[in-house]
Amino acid sequence: MGAGMKILIIGGGGREHALASAIARSPLLEKLYVAPGNPGTASIATNIPLRATDIACIVSFAIEHQVDLVIPGPEAPLVAGIADACARAGIACCGPSAAAAQLEGSKRFTKELADAANIPTAAWDVFDDADAAHDYIEEMGAPIVIKADGLAAGKGVVVALTLEEAHAAITAIMEDKIHGAAGAQVVIEECLEGEEISLFALCDGLDALYLGVAADHKRVGDGDTGPNTGGMGAISPPPWATPAIIADTMARIIRPALAEMVARGTPFRGFLFAGLMLEPDGPKLIEFNVRFGDPECETILPLLNSDLLPALRAATNGTLATASLTWQNAASATVVLCSRGYPGAYATGGEIYGLEEAARLPGVSIFHAGTMADQGGILANGGRVLAINATGVGLPQAVARAYAAVDTIEWSDGFCRRDIGKRAIFLSENLS
Ligand code: AMP
Ligand code: GLY
Repeated sequence: MGAGMKILIIGGGGREHALASAIARSPLLEKLYVAPGNPGTASIATNIPLRATDIACIVSFAIEHQVDLVIPGPEAPLVAGIADACARAGIACCGPSAAAAQLEGSKRFTKELADAANIPTAAWDVFDDADAAHDYIEEMGAPIVIKADGLAAGKGVVVALTLEEAHAAITAIMEDKIHGAAGAQVVIEECLEGEEISLFALCDGLDALYLGVAADHKRVGDGDTGPNTGGMGAISPPPWATPAIIADTMARIIRPALAEMVARGTPFRGFLFAGLMLEPDGPKLIEFNVRFGDPECETILPLLNSDLLPALRAATNGTLATASLTWQNAASATVVLCSRGYPGAYATGGEIYGLEEAARLPGVSIFHAGTMADQGGILANGGRVLAINATGVGLPQAVARAYAAVDTIEWSDGFCRRDIGKRAIFLSENLS
């Protein structure tokens, strides 16, 4: 091809730093922008001081700088219509339209789609009346899962182990309206049991290209204790995600969902994230997200051998069927360093030392998530601050390398989970 590609990544977290790192290696790249980016992306791309949801300014920037491809990281700009705005401006965007982003924006939408496409998922019902919802859980019993229909910053799901908790969740969401309009409708569903995995696919509307599988560690504390977070660490591939399970998920969940989206006139383009529960009779869909996961992206992309950019471009022009990716036959682990107090209140501004030394350790990649540059130093500037990734020949080596990097970093206000990958390693050693 002729001149190289100008690429604009939207977002400023660890996921976007990992995407930028992969794209920065592409021989097809001419210029890489990230809006707003972070100190990590600043070292490999040009940061543009625009908020991820400032769609009009982002599109103006893309037009002015002749950007060939926009890659949104987070869901907010997608739900707000960034792909539609790019389409109107004639700019390729590796992300779904606002209509297709309903796959993440509305739990009810996804459950209806799953039923229509015969996708295995938990039995469910939807309510806009609190009394009816209270009656339903009395009838169904506990454990039971209560979900605010709309986007609730990852906090809209309650897995209620008792009827008391379930009633309290309905009261909080529907009567006290703790998530505002996102809780006007509530999906109530059967509680699934098993190992959880996240499977990623790149989609061009009709076709899907498998992008890898990971297991997140959502709870803040070791041993999966404490409140939910955006993700404290991840491993790839989790030992329980067998090739058969991956093939089954692509065939029975990802492809039927894409076909149903086409049938509805809202084809899905971009990163599709399937949250799955592995039950004895096969994978069940928990939810879709319309973006790469964070920290799953930081965990999967370091395993990529080939150039990501041709596949991303193919996802925007309907030629994904001819694209392919090659992966290292290795394991990957990410440990997220957080500000003490996260996911509750935390202080920012503490200085972090040792990052360059840590990044030189074997197999290690360091992705900035919530940092700020200050006179040559790096300060904490968020809840999830750094994603420390390492690859290795197997999961034990990947995990050991990631923690070796963590232990090289000095940051007095930081903490991390100390058991990322521990259960997976234990299960592999004791099952095989
Ligand atoms: P979400 O905020 O939609 O990612 O859901 C948060 C978490 O709730 C999921 O990652 C699961 O661990 C759990 N969850 C959601 N739906 C179910 C379900 N039907 N059964 C069991 N756990 C669930
Ligand atoms: N780590 C889970 C997510 O990105 O939603």
